[in-house]
Amino acid sequence: MANLSIAIDGPAGAGKSTIAKKIALLKNLVYIDTGAMYRAFTLKLINKNIPLDNYDLIKEVLKDTEIDIVDGKIYLDNVNVSSEIRKPIINKNVSQIASIPFVREFLVKLQRKIAENNNVIMDGRDIGTKVLPDAKYKFFLTASIEERAKRRYKELKEKGYKCSLKDVIDEIANRDKMDSERKVDPLKKADDAILIDTTGKTIEKVINEILSMIDM
Ligand code: C5P
Repeated sequence: MANLSIAIDGPAGAGKSTIAKKIALLKNLVYIDTGAMYRAFTLKLINKNIPLDNYDLIKEVLKDTEIDIVDGKIYLDNVNVSSEIRKPIINKNVSQIASIPFVREFLVKLQRKIAENNNVIMDGRDIGTKVLPDAKYKFFLTASIEERAKRRYKELKEKGYKCSLKDVIDEIANRDKMDSERKVDPLKKADDAILIDTTGKTIEKVINEILSMIDM
């Protein structure tokens, strides 16, 4: 890996993407939201009515799939799907698709290629452990499930989706469980990652904490 990179991992709603986006701007890094890639592929399967347990068909679809991130927007087969991938149906199904080894292999390859060509700040679940094990800096962000769910609930409400806080708590808890328990590259803090609990902290406070630890 020729470039500087920052890996940010952690469960849903820990503040990873908001924080990574701001640090990218401040430090002139390319921000890569790897969760958006898993979401985009899940969206494609759902739009095509592919049964999510039909691995043969999923493999065929994957062969014919192009995913790009340009200026923070996610493109699926050259169409900007940045809003669509945030729909509740994607939240519900993405972890199942992200547990498929050949899907991960495809996306990890793509993520590493981007990191070879750019100075990146990349967020996800397995960036420090698998995608960029040699990243210059690694952070693992977490927060209580109540606080993470409240943040996601607020975002969903602002986008006009109807749901209850309880639905969001259940959805996040289910995703955390699937992401941490899957066999391939589970959600896990890398041994050399710095743990930051964002519960009760403002975004600015966490950003300053991270900035005080990086020299780039
Ligand atoms: O980060 P976000 O919540 O958008 O990620 C959506 C889902 O994509 C996660 O719940 C997880 O199942 C999967 N994911 C993953 N590995 C990554 C990033 C996301 O498995 N590096």
